Amino acid sequence: MMKFEVWNGDASRLRADCLVAGVFEGGELPDETRQIDKAAGGRIAALARRGDFAARSGDTLLLTDLPGLRASRVLLVGQGKRADLGRKPWRRAVHAAVVALAKTRIASAAFALARPVASELDDYWLARATAEITAAALYRVNDLKSGRKPRAAALARLLVGPVAASGTAAAKRGFGHGAAVGVGLGTLRDLANLPSNVCTPSYLAGAARKLAQRHPKTLRVRVLDERAIRRERMGCFLAVTRGSDEPPRFIVLEHRGGKAGSAPVVLVGKGITFDTGGISLKDPPAMDEMKFDMSGAATVIAALTVVSELALPLNVVGLVPTCENMPGGRATKPGDIVTSASGQTVEILNTDAEGRLILSDALHYARRFKPAAVIDIATLTGACVVALGAHHSGVMANDDALAQELVDCGRRADDRAWQLPLTEDYAEQLKSNFADMANVAGRDGGAITAGAFLGKFTKGLKWAHMDIAGTAYLSGAQKGSTGRPISLLSEFLIRRAAH
Ligand code: BES
Ligand code: MN
Ligand code: ZN
Repeated sequence: MMKFEVWNGDASRLRADCLVAGVFEGGELPDETRQIDKAAGGRIAALARRGDFAARSGDTLLLTDLPGLRASRVLLVGQGKRADLGRKPWRRAVHAAVVALAKTRIASAAFALARPVASELDDYWLARATAEITAAALYRVNDLKSGRKPRAAALARLLVGPVAASGTAAAKRGFGHGAAVGVGLGTLRDLANLPSNVCTPSYLAGAARKLAQRHPKTLRVRVLDERAIRRERMGCFLAVTRGSDEPPRFIVLEHRGGKAGSAPVVLVGKGITFDTGGISLKDPPAMDEMKFDMSGAATVIAALTVVSELALPLNVVGLVPTCENMPGGRATKPGDIVTSASGQTVEILNTDAEGRLILSDALHYARRFKPAAVIDIATLTGACVVALGAHHSGVMANDDALAQELVDCGRRADDRAWQLPLTEDYAEQLKSNFADMANVAGRDGGAITAGAFLGKFTKGLKWAHMDIAGTAYLSGAQKGSTGRPISLLSEFLIRRAAH
């Protein structure tokens, strides 16, 4: 576990293996770096003057054995143009610094980077974001390569500052929250990165059980098998799992941190451990990425991890319907009609629109908790990727205040989301000649018609839907889970617990 502390005073006097100092483009030095440079006889300023360090945001350069310092190394980090010093380049600089430190045997480092103004990044967020970024930068994928694993980073202690005495308590709180979010981030990415032949529905249930074992006083787990799912009459969920030989699971996690009887926040995560499309089979290109189709489920398990780590005074329920979507002799076929747990009938016109089917039964199940709010998280539509790309998660809701709360949390946590208009118009596109509704409504507005489908199962609940199809993972050379939207969701839960 990384140790975090704050520092204040003269940066050049800090005791650590390495001082992390910022440089602006054009060679200008922030105040903290000037203190270090002065003690070191002007070596940094001389280097900057020669133009050997461009100081673009995220550039790094390790210097060793500068005179006049207790630290044996100085890591210079480019902070871009001084005028542009906002949270984004600051985050990039911290990330780059941790990545560079992780390649060395440096065990302790003191961050003395220039900080954005307090309205952008106060002491609490300085600490929390540093802890979150550190966890993200040190994350190593749980790969199944047979060669020797690279040596773990030596980094074990980080000093962050300058933070005045008046800000110490806020920073400590920030470190605690950020470290917990970091644990959640690792949980989420580990689960999502695993291949579908390892991370099956039963494996996710096992992960939930293990988590509950670590928090026996506050966290309860229940796992419904296929028979129990049948007893709940989850006809939509069962229609999706039909084509697969892998048994489905419905996971219920309950964190009891709030007052007994106070209405919980219910989180629902899409847990398709592999989405072939079913009989409406997908095209081969990039089909392997459909192992990430359980990222919503991983987010929910990660959120319960964060809540448990922090012992948040809030009741939180996590619901995870999880199965595979496969073609097969018994698989659901286009045109098949099933009855959802809510009693509504659904004509399944496209078996590749399976996420909304398993979620609809889980959202109905959420009612029994009389929730204060229900939020589902799902890699639900390619249309959401077309609309928002990889930058914003999509938010839709039947309650504008809840949607705005999520958007606001995303902005604060630098894990952004954007609201799409879930007006009644979209639900009309789901009309069917043979059942209460169809599960698809054509190409136009696809992210929102998917939301509208879910909306038919959440009447009377305060409900929001997050489509993370574009944000949950990266493709190409950097293929892997991003850990989004755990920061956003953690912020939401931390705020709700503070009320
Ligand atoms: N899991 C996919 C959505 C998806 C697509 C996630 C691309 C990440 C990247 C979902 O189950 C799906 O197949 N949705 C269909 C819905 C369509 C048939 C209405 C889609 O988006 O094409
Ligand atoms: Mn699909
Ligand atoms: Zn899917």
